[in-house]
Amino acid sequence: MLLKLSDVQLRFAGNTVLHDVNFGVAESALTSLIGPNGAGKTSLFNCITGFYKPQGGSVVFDGHELLRLKPHRVTKLGIARTFQNLRLFREMTVLENVMAGMHCRTHAGAFAAVFRTPGQRREEAEIRAEAEDCLRFVGILDEKDRIATTLAYGHQRRVEIARALATRPKLMLLDEPAAGLNSGEKDELIGLIRRIRDERGVAVLLIEHDMGLVMKVSERITVLDHGRLIAEGTADEVRRDPKVIEAYLGQEEGEAAL
Ligand SMILES: Nc1ncnc2c1ncn2[C@@H]1O[C@H](COP(=O)(O)OP(=O)(O)OP(=O)(O)O)[C@@H](O)[C@H]1O
Ligand SMILES: [Mg+2]
Repeated sequence: MLLKLSDVQLRFAGNTVLHDVNFGVAESALTSLIGPNGAGKTSLFNCITGFYKPQGGSVVFDGHELLRLKPHRVTKLGIARTFQNLRLFREMTVLENVMAGMHCRTHAGAFAAVFRTPGQRREEAEIRAEAEDCLRFVGILDEKDRIATTLAYGHQRRVEIARALATRPKLMLLDEPAAGLNSGEKDELIGLIRRIRDERGVAVLLIEHDMGLVMKVSERITVLDHGRLIAEGTADEVRRDPKVIEAYLGQEEGEAAL
């Protein structure tokens, strides 16, 4: 297992958001994490990435315990994420947004940054080239000099994915990347997620409400409901599971697609 969560417990002011969650992601796997609104999916991502500090359990990634690490340390170990609500830097171009995500990998210290040593200039050129490569990979290189927040919404989502890719992750966490996309854009996203895994060898853990997309792209699906894992398996196994059907009753979006 590339990522292994054991007995992860998260509470806020007496409200238990995650109850002893046990969950794993295999190397280079395409896995989805689904569940009704408020199930705890984003909170789980926040526990993995160091944004939340769970009260109990462990999160081991590639041999490292992540639970006490700050978010930038987690990024450096090889986990990148995108956010449910876009978090692009305003006033920055598309290219600058992607380059900003790569500072976790730079070596130049404060001295080099002020005096712009040859080493630092070389490093910046390399970073720029790699950021451009990531933008080419997600298909928006021709928009690199535009202010990121002026792009069409679907393309802003791709900037976030390029920024995540540029950190050279082993695992990418995508939090509802299809939200707000039309059906053509969703098909392109499916292709992009597959290429991230097939061409870059990156494992993907996807949170998504669009069940059609989830069923098409996932090798394994894990279902969370009220902070507990209630099912785990292939798309066919999960969609037939009575516990899953019950969790989604009344949730039109999920129910219709299961
Ligand atoms: N920082 C926080 N403080 C207090 N409660 C929180 C916090 N973060 C999450 N919660 C609570 O945890 C529960 C799960 O929220 P979370 O955002 O993880 O759900 P989700 O599965 O991502 O839902 P959605 O599909 O709507 O995005 C909710 O009841 C939420 O109010
Ligand atoms: Mg969420």
